[in-house]
Amino acid sequence: MELLEHGAPVPDPLQPYLEVDRSRPRHECWVMGHMVAGLDGTAAIAGRVGALSTPPDQSLFRRMRQIADVVLIGAETVRREGYAPIRLSEETREQRRLRGQTPTPPVAVVTRSLDLDLAASVFADAPEDARTLLITCAAADPQRLEAAHEVATVVIAGQERVDPAAALQALAERGHAVVLCEGGPRWLGELVAADRLDELCLTLSPLMGGDLLPVSVTPPGAGLSHFTLRSTMVEDGTLFLRYESLPPERRSDG
Ligand SMILES: NC(=O)c1ccc[n+]([C@@H]2O[C@H](COP(=O)([O-])OP(=O)(O)OC[C@H]3O[C@@H](n4cnc5c(N)ncnc54)[C@H](OP(=O)(O)O)[C@@H]3O)[C@@H](O)[C@H]2O)c1
Repeated sequence: MELLEHGAPVPDPLQPYLEVDRSRPRHECWVMGHMVAGLDGTAAIAGRVGALSTPPDQSLFRRMRQIADVVLIGAETVRREGYAPIRLSEETREQRRLRGQTPTPPVAVVTRSLDLDLAASVFADAPEDARTLLITCAAADPQRLEAAHEVATVVIAGQERVDPAAALQALAERGHAVVLCEGGPRWLGELVAADRLDELCLTLSPLMGGDLLPVSVTPPGAGLSHFTLRSTMVEDGTLFLRYESLPPERRSDG
């Protein structure tokens, strides 16, 4: 046991995240989750994430996107939060070019139902070079599928449901080596259950009393996944925890 004490100030809170070596993923690509929770683990308040996120979390949340090659989201989060394409400053876009990334990471939405507003900003306002992806399965409604092709790049990854490994393989084949999953809990739980979550950046906000929705909802029957704490930061009572997946061979009981 050791006490975590307040240490040296961090001049740029993004720097510790930028420095992580994500070049050797265990599977198709490196998957980082970025979530915010209350002290009771809740992932939403009245169906939205906004009231959970403190100002330092909001700032880091936006900036974390510059690390990603693609931002992956479950459809319910898109329906509730009204997603828009990722916007980065010209300076950030240039830094990405220098790192060999595309200037803007596209958004990729996972859905079986395709029950989405196809006129919404996340599709209509996506730039040419970062067209929104819709990741769905072969069993999706053919008419909705046809309409989806008009506004997005459609990826079929699975028969009756989206298979996380197939979805990530399709993203990797498009050159997306670092995938940032911004939730929601059900889609994140699918990634966890498929052993595809390499890194979790978890913000703990100093409040309790939100919805009965934990940060990750793994499907029934999924086993436990283990993680190791890599870094911590704190600002105004908000904790920023960075975990990485701990494969069985590296667990003390494994
Ligand atoms: N605390 C945070 O950091 C955070 C982050 C994001 C969201 N949230 C909150 O979380 C809530 C929404 O999260 P949620 O867990 O209910 O939903 P979600 O994970 O955002 O989306 C679930 C939907 O994704 C699609 N999906 C998931 N797995 C799939 C699979 N294997 N195959 C095909 N489609 C699949 C389905 O879409 P279809 O129904 O279209 O088939 C499913 O209904 C909102 O309240 C939001 O505010 C919190």
